[in-house]
Amino acid sequence: MEGWIVTKKSAASHSEPRVAAMAAAAPQQEPQVEAVAAATPKQEPRVESMAMTAAVPDADNISFLLLSENQRIGRVVSVAGSQSVVLMEESADNKAVIPAGLMMGTIVKMPLPETVVYGLVCGLSVPIPATEPGAPEMKIMEVELIGESVRGEDGTLSPFRRGVSMSPPLTSAVFTTSQNDLRLVFLRPDIATARIGSLHQERRLPALIGIDDLLGKHFAVVGATGSGKSCSVTVILRAILEHYPNAHMIVLDPHNEYGHALGDRAEVIGSGTLQLPYWLFNFEEICEVLIQAGAKLDLAEAALFSEYIANARRQFLGPAAEGRFITADTPSPYRMTLVTQYIDDTMGRLEKPESLVPYHRLKAAINLITSDGRFAFMFGSGITVRDNMASILSRILRLPVDGKPVTILDLSAVPSEILNVTVSVLCRLLFDFAVWSDGAIPVLLVCEEAHRYAPEDDKAGFGPAKRALSRIAKEGRKYGLSLCVATQRPAELAAGMLSQCNTIFTMRLSHQRDQELVRAALSDAAIGLLEALPTLGNAEAIAVGQGIAVPMRMVFTELTPEQRPKSASAIFSSAWKNDIANGEDFVQEVVDRWRRVRR
Ligand SMILES: Nc1ncnc2c1ncn2[C@@H]1O[C@H](COP(=O)(O)OP(=O)(O)OP(=O)(O)O)[C@@H](O)[C@H]1O
Ligand SMILES: [Mg+2]
Repeated sequence: MEGWIVTKKSAASHSEPRVAAMAAAAPQQEPQVEAVAAATPKQEPRVESMAMTAAVPDADNISFLLLSENQRIGRVVSVAGSQSVVLMEESADNKAVIPAGLMMGTIVKMPLPETVVYGLVCGLSVPIPATEPGAPEMKIMEVELIGESVRGEDGTLSPFRRGVSMSPPLTSAVFTTSQNDLRLVFLRPDIATARIGSLHQERRLPALIGIDDLLGKHFAVVGATGSGKSCSVTVILRAILEHYPNAHMIVLDPHNEYGHALGDRAEVIGSGTLQLPYWLFNFEEICEVLIQAGAKLDLAEAALFSEYIANARRQFLGPAAEGRFITADTPSPYRMTLVTQYIDDTMGRLEKPESLVPYHRLKAAINLITSDGRFAFMFGSGITVRDNMASILSRILRLPVDGKPVTILDLSAVPSEILNVTVSVLCRLLFDFAVWSDGAIPVLLVCEEAHRYAPEDDKAGFGPAKRALSRIAKEGRKYGLSLCVATQRPAELAAGMLSQCNTIFTMRLSHQRDQELVRAALSDAAIGLLEALPTLGNAEAIAVGQGIAVPMRMVFTELTPEQRPKSASAIFSSAWKNDIANGEDFVQEVVDRWRRVRR
C-alpha cells in the first residue's frame, strides 16, 4: 500500500527531532488521551468498530475505498505552526488499526470543543522499522492543518473554512472523517462552484472549483508535454461555461486546438479572420515587426521614426488631434504610406550615401510586410484605413456574447517571427481595456505555452510580451482580468508568473527543475502530495490553492474524443501499415495550403 514509506520530505527535513520527542512521550500516553477525549463533550461519535476487516483490499481498489468513518486512528504528539504529528494507535497484537485507505492526501479530523479541525495527511512513516516479525512499530502521520468547521449552539457544524483558529492541543484524538465531513469540506455549499473531476482517493467525491476564487486570482495548469494540460483547461472552461453562458473568455491558441474542443460555444478568429491593424501596435511593437523584416534602427533613426508615426497619427485625426497628447503609442489609426513619405523626405535631405542605408532598410522592411500575405491580418487587403478599434475589441471580448462566450485566437497562422509581438499587442489591449473600463467586464484570458511569451530568460522571447503578461498577472485582478497560464516548462516561465497564480493544477512533471519550481510556489500542505508528480497518469493532477477547497490529488472529468483539443499524438503503428495512394497529389495539396498560409 502506498504511504508507509518515509517520504523524502519527512526523512530529510523535520521528522528527526519530532520522532525523538515522540519516542520519549509514546509509552504513557494512553491515559492522557482518554482524559482529553472525556474532556471534549460534544465530540462526534468517536470510535466505531476499531477492528479492521481482516481482508486486505486489492491494491488497485484501494483508491476507491472509503475509510471506515469516524474511526480513531491516533493522537497528536507534536504541533508546530500549521503542521502536527500524529502517533498512530496500535492494537495489542500489533495488527494495525490503521485503515486501509489512509494515504497521502487523506483528510482526517480532530474534534475540539468549539470546532472540528481538518487536516491533510502529508507524510506517513515508520521511523524505526522492526527487525523481528510482529514486533511493535511506531507509525507516524504528518498532518497539515487545513481548515475547520465551527460548532453551532445546536451542535451543527458551519461550512468548512480555510485556516485554523485554534490548533489542536497535544494528545487530541485524531479520527477518520465521515461522509458528512467530506461533504462539508469538498462540496462547499456556501459558494459558487463547478465540478471539474473527482478526487483520486475517493472517486465518488467531486473535485470542485470555487468560481470566484479561481478566476479572481489567476490559475495555472502545468505539466509535461502530453500530460493533459490542454484537456484540463478545456474541462475547466466547459465546467464554468455550463453555469455561466455569458462568460467572456479569450484563448490564445498557438496550435489551433481549442476550436475543436469548445465547439459552438466559441468564435474562432484565425487565418483570414484575425484583424489586428498595424496602427494598434505601439512603437516598440511595430519596430520589432520591422526589425524581424530586416530593418536596423539606431537611436537617432528610431527617434525620427517615432516622430513620423506620431505625426501620421495626428494627421489622420485632423482637427480632432488638437489639444490632445498624441504619441507613437496612441492607439489611433495612421497611414503607413504617409510614414514612408516622411522617410523619403528625410532621405532627400541627406547627402552622404552611407547615412541613407538605414532608411533604405526601413523602407524595404515596410514594403516587405505590407505586401507579404502572411501579414494581411495587420494590413488588410485594401489601402483604406479606418478606425475600427471598437469593433475589433468587441469581437475579441464577445460583447455582446451572442451565445458564444469564448473567443479562440488561433495564432497558428501568424508568422512565427512576430507571434510574440502579436501576443504582446493582444495582452496589452486587453489590459488597457480592463483599466479604461474600470473592470466592468470580467474577462478570463487563457495563455497556452506561456513560457514562450513570458520566458524567464530575458534574451529569449520579446520583452513587451513578457511585460504585458506579467502586468496582467500582477495587476489584472484589480480590473477583472483573470489569467490562466498553461505551460509545460514552469522552469522557463518568468519568475513571478507562477507565484501570482493562486491556484495551480500540476499534472505529471518529470523534469527535476520544473518540479522544484512548482514545489517552491506551493504551500507546505501540498508538498507531500507532490511526491507523486512523476507518476501521475494522464488527466491526473495535484490541485492546490484558493480555487479549490483543500490541496488534493484529483482526476479531471474525461472528455469525449469530440470534446478534446485537437492534439492527439500521431498513431505511427496504424499510419505506417498502408501506403498513401496519390501521394504526389496529397503533397501538392499541402503545398497549396502552405502558400495560401491557411491551416
Ligand atoms: N480529461 C481528459 N479527457 C480525455 N482525455 C484526456 C484528458 N486529459 C488528457 N487526455 C488524453 O491525453 C492526451 C494529451 O492531452 P493534452 O493534449 O491535453 O496534453 P498537453 O499537456 O496539453 O500536451 P502538450 O504539452 O503537447 O500541449 C489527449 O490527447 C487525451 O487523449
Ligand atoms: Mg497542450
